[in-house]
Amino acid sequence: MKRYGILCDGGDAPGINAAIRAVAREAYEKDDEVLGFIDGFIGLIKNDVRIITKDVVSGILPLPGSVLGISRINPFKDPKNVQAIKENFRKNSLTLLVIIGDRDTVDIAKKFSDEGIPSIVIPKTIDNDVYGTDFTIGFDTAVTTISSALDNLHATASAHHRAMIVETMGRETGWLALFGGIAGGADYIIIPEIPYKMEEVAAHLAKRKKEGKNFSIVIVAEGAPLPEGKAEQKEYDEFGHPVNSKRMVGYTIMEELEKITHIKTRTTVLGYIQRGGIPTNTDRILATRLGVAAIKFADKGKFNGLVGVCGRDIVFSPLEEVAGKIHSVNLEFYRLAKTFF
Ligand code: F6P
Repeated sequence: MKRYGILCDGGDAPGINAAIRAVAREAYEKDDEVLGFIDGFIGLIKNDVRIITKDVVSGILPLPGSVLGISRINPFKDPKNVQAIKENFRKNSLTLLVIIGDRDTVDIAKKFSDEGIPSIVIPKTIDNDVYGTDFTIGFDTAVTTISSALDNLHATASAHHRAMIVETMGRETGWLALFGGIAGGADYIIIPEIPYKMEEVAAHLAKRKKEGKNFSIVIVAEGAPLPEGKAEQKEYDEFGHPVNSKRMVGYTIMEELEKITHIKTRTTVLGYIQRGGIPTNTDRILATRLGVAAIKFADKGKFNGLVGVCGRDIVFSPLEEVAGKIHSVNLEFYRLAKTFF
């Protein structure tokens, strides 16, 4: 009988609970046990653990958030944490960790594998920036949230003849702004992967106005560079990632655009709304596939890897092949978006 320790790491995302349910149900099929650590690595450090029974996962499929809680900490910041995790791994007689996490989780899991703590990572983040999978759990739901936000903004932008700047999440990649912009019909899309000039954005809005379009919607990823010449006030988190909410890229673009175009411009920062929401069927099915696959691979003795989706297939990537990498936008989608601006 195997004993799996499941925990959630990084930012929350819709679909986590569907993944927890899938891991537990597949494990029970094999008469294995699942222990849930509360609030991610914090729970593993403190040995704050619950046996995950069928009742615990009953009815959680459509719930946003995480029934186990989640946290974003780097356990390797303090050697005492690593020691505690090793002790609690042994104390609970675990076979391996099943970690529902993001890019930083992959790097942490790789380090733990080097310390003799085996794991399998299930990729979850609204950012869709995990290397080794086409899509991550939570991304589709966040795109749906962004797209409906743009639908709402079309009405007010048109009524007031304004330009609307919509700032999405997406710490270092443009997936959310790109897919949300395509689905929501944005008139311009600004992402970290593609350099932009304010003059070009302004010229496009002016062209729309000349063609009789009395409003425009510009979507920008929070990780996009500030307009040329604007000083960065970067703050970094404990993984060394920029804290984008302090950079105000949406408001800065608003000011610059209004100066050049003299079109009344307003900004909406979607923020943490993108992390909530009832998971879409796409995310529920992705989470179910990846959760079941994680246990199937583990049952065959495959671990220290990331489960992912590639095309229609579920794939297993060894941690050393995916650690330290980022999944940037596929430029085919940007070219598709460019058809419209
Ligand atoms: O989980 C990804 C993400 O939502 C990014 O899009 C965002 O920049 C970051 O998390 C925010 O981190 P935190 O939740 O720690 O503020």
